[in-house]
Formats: sequence, structure tokens, C-alpha cells
Amino acid sequence: MCNELAFRVAAPDDLPALWSIRNRAARVQCAGHYPPAALETWLAAAPSDGFRHLLRQGHAIVAEQGRNIVGYTVVDVGERELEALFVAPDHFRRGCGSQLLARAEELASQEGIVTLTLSAALNAIDFYLAHDYELLAIDDYAHRSGVRLKRGVMQKSLKISRRSS
Ligand SMILES: CC(C)(COP(=O)(O)OP(=O)(O)OC[C@H]1O[C@@H](n2cnc3c(N)ncnc32)[C@H](O)[C@@H]1OP(=O)(O)O)[C@@H](O)C(=O)NCCC(=O)NCCS
Repeated sequence: MCNELAFRVAAPDDLPALWSIRNRAARVQCAGHYPPAALETWLAAAPSDGFRHLLRQGHAIVAEQGRNIVGYTVVDVGERELEALFVAPDHFRRGCGSQLLARAEELASQEGIVTLTLSAALNAIDFYLAHDYELLAIDDYAHRSGVRLKRGVMQKSLKISRRSS
């Protein structure tokens, strides 16, 4: 288990580390679920302005072990959506993703989100089902890189814990 993790709000300077984890995690786990060329086109995309904006808003959380970032999650509050959740491959299946997801849900709940939606990579659908997300559909969507990718459209009702001001 990842008992020794520390969590903090991500800073814009963390972006290269986050993107590296995204690409490494997806290359290991999404391979076999997507055509190799489509996967590489998706992964070659640079971070979007929207993603950078979410980092500046403080809506991204990193998990650290010592000084190393080993996973992260991002919530798009405006879209009521879990934008990203990635764990470094050498930390897969040690509870890191579950701990990050719990923090993302807490952040979302504090922001008043009642139903959190997400687009799950096909390889991650079982992870979200194990965390009480409902699979609404599997469809094709057009990624901004130009490829069409299959995804699971999922959602979960959250307990409300609005931050007191
Ligand atoms: C999906 C991901 C975030 C899960 O994080 P993780 O730290 O490996 O997951 P956890 O250890 O917290 O898993 C908890 C439980 O979820 C389920 N689970 C996790 N990964 C799973 C997988 N690949 N397939 C099936 N079930 C899975 C299991 O029930 C697991 O419990 P167990 O290990 O005792 O069986 C991580 O593997 C990852 O980054 N994957 C690649 C990138 C990706 O697809 N991200 C999601 C984009 S939508």
C-alpha cells in the first residue's frame, strides 16, 4: 500500500512531471486497449490551455513519495468532470489511484458538485466501477489531437461537503 504518500495542490511548474506520468502510465496500461498509432497520436498532444488553466486554478492534486510525484488528479469544476487521474507505472495497484480519487471527489464535493462525470480510458473502467462509478455508455470521441478514441462515459453521485466560508 502507498501509506507513505503526501498530497498537495499542484503548481503550474509541476506540468512537465505530470505530463511525463500521463504518458508513461498510458503507454503501459492503455496499450492493448487502443491501436498503437492512435495511442501515440493522443500522447503526442501537448497540454491544452484548458489543462494549464485548471492547474493555475489549484484544481489539481499531486501525490508525492519523498520528493517524487507518483500520481496526480485534476478536477474541471466548471464541467463537473474528473479531467485526469494518472499514477506512475511503478506505483500501479498500490492504492495510490484510490487515494487520489478520494481527494478529487472531496475537492469536487467542496466545490458543490453533486454528480461527478468522467471519460474513462477502456483500461480504467474497472477501476472506476470498483469505486462506485456507473458506466453510462461506451462511445467514440474526437480528441483534439485528431484521433477518435473509445471511452467509457461514467458518473457518480457525491456526498455534499461544501466548504464553509
Ligand atoms: C487507473 C489508475 C489511475 C488506477 O490507479 P492505481 O493506483 O493503479 O489503482 P489502485 O491501486 O488504487 O486500485 C484500487 C482497485 O481498483 C481496481 N483496479 C485498479 N486498476 C485496475 C485495472 N487496471 N483493472 C481492473 N481493476 C483495477 C482494483 O479493484 C484495485 O484493487 P486491487 O488492486 O486490490 O485489486 C492507474 O492504474 C493508471 O494511472 N492507469 C493508466 C492511466 C489511466 O488509464 N488513467 C485513467 C484515465 S481515465
